[in-house]
Amino acid sequence: MAKFHIEGGHKLSGTVTPSGNKNEALPVLMACLLTDEPITYKRMPRIGDVLTTCDVLADLGVDVSWVDQDTLTLCAKNAKYKKPDPELCAKIRASILLLGPMLARFGKIELALPGGDVIGARRIDTHWEGIEALGGTLRLSHGITGEIKKIQGSDVFLDEPSVTGTENLLLLAVKCHGTTVLHNAASEPHVMGLCHLLNAMGAKISGIGSNRLVIEGVQTLKGATHTIGPDFMEVGSFLCLGAISGGKVTIKDTRPEDLGFVLKTLSRIGIVPEIEGKSLTIDGTKPLIVRKDIGGRIGTIYSGPWPAYPTDLMSVAIVAATQSQGTLIFFEKMFEGRMFFTDKLMQMGANIVLCDPHRVVVNGPSKLFAARMSSPDVRAGMSLIMAALIAEGTSVIDNIYQVERGYFDVENKLRSLGAKIIRKD
Ligand code: EPU
Repeated sequence: MAKFHIEGGHKLSGTVTPSGNKNEALPVLMACLLTDEPITYKRMPRIGDVLTTCDVLADLGVDVSWVDQDTLTLCAKNAKYKKPDPELCAKIRASILLLGPMLARFGKIELALPGGDVIGARRIDTHWEGIEALGGTLRLSHGITGEIKKIQGSDVFLDEPSVTGTENLLLLAVKCHGTTVLHNAASEPHVMGLCHLLNAMGAKISGIGSNRLVIEGVQTLKGATHTIGPDFMEVGSFLCLGAISGGKVTIKDTRPEDLGFVLKTLSRIGIVPEIEGKSLTIDGTKPLIVRKDIGGRIGTIYSGPWPAYPTDLMSVAIVAATQSQGTLIFFEKMFEGRMFFTDKLMQMGANIVLCDPHRVVVNGPSKLFAARMSSPDVRAGMSLIMAALIAEGTSVIDNIYQVERGYFDVENKLRSLGAKIIRKD
């Protein structure tokens, strides 16, 4: 199993460029099943989850060709119905995104239950209820089987603004008869990205960016070219890292409109970058100080569906808070397994209290010491790398495939900033 050896305590300085957003890349890849014409994707990150998704699609007969390092063309002209490879599907959460487009294209599906990060219950009720509201029938037994005879436009009330749930319903409803309205839809930048690609393919989606998406069904979709947005999770991760790096880190080619709540929230830890056009510069030579609530009370950073602070950026913020003067509560409202990695930070010397599966209290600053650790999920994995980079001594992080599923070329990006990081197989 591949691992990172990280010698901590070296200042990091320089410029990094975010790759394409993983959570946009995965649904837009699945959209290729909705047309016989080619779709070209620019800024496609060559991360583990993307490569596995390409393997799943290739197994269905989709022609997959990389044009250059981050440009990919998919053509589903020769795609044939079959059960998607269960072993590949079990590797990624995004395999659930086959439900919508396979039902739209073939009228039926047999799908193994998805894999991915072990971070909580990850219910699929939103997908299920929405598909049935559009005329589908689904059954659960050793996976999901189902069919749809006619995709019937409908008013669908999502029981929660699930990201992949909304994406699955978009990937089905674009071909409905009549009009579908998705109420309480997710509105993350990656959901918007999928909507923009589908509209470029000939779909008629309005309300993009809101929680009420209106989809007028069309019967045929065509090929298109789509550029994936810069990964704001990666931007947020490098901001947190830069803030504790002891040097000055610039993140270029970001999309500042994706970062509103992220910057507002990180400012509570004392992380306030300089913004110049699409570049953010964070000066890690300045000490971080936690901002208290008015009246001097201890503040809370909590995650929530967009536009609130993303759950995927909780763990990196927690590491940054271990280096900031003061106390903060972190309340992870969405997943009940995402806080457990903090035991590793405590082992390294962080002053953290795990109150329950959803909440931790962080009291900083603490000096961190190297440790041997294993990466439990993609985001916690990145956080452990950050902690190792500022710790005294050499840390070993196992199971880094989890990190490489979601962050492209993390080793070289960190090395270009001066990190002493070596990947060992
Ligand atoms: N949830 C709530 N309240 C809400 C919405 C969700 O409590 O208003 C809870 C539910 O229990 C739900 C869980 O949060 O089961 C997950 O929500 P969602 O269904 O939106 O998650 P997902 O679609 O399975 C995607 C991303 C995750 C990201 C979440 C939340 C992809 C492939 N995955 O998952 O990404 O954490 O949305 O933004 O898009 C990651 O990149 O590390 C990752 C896990």
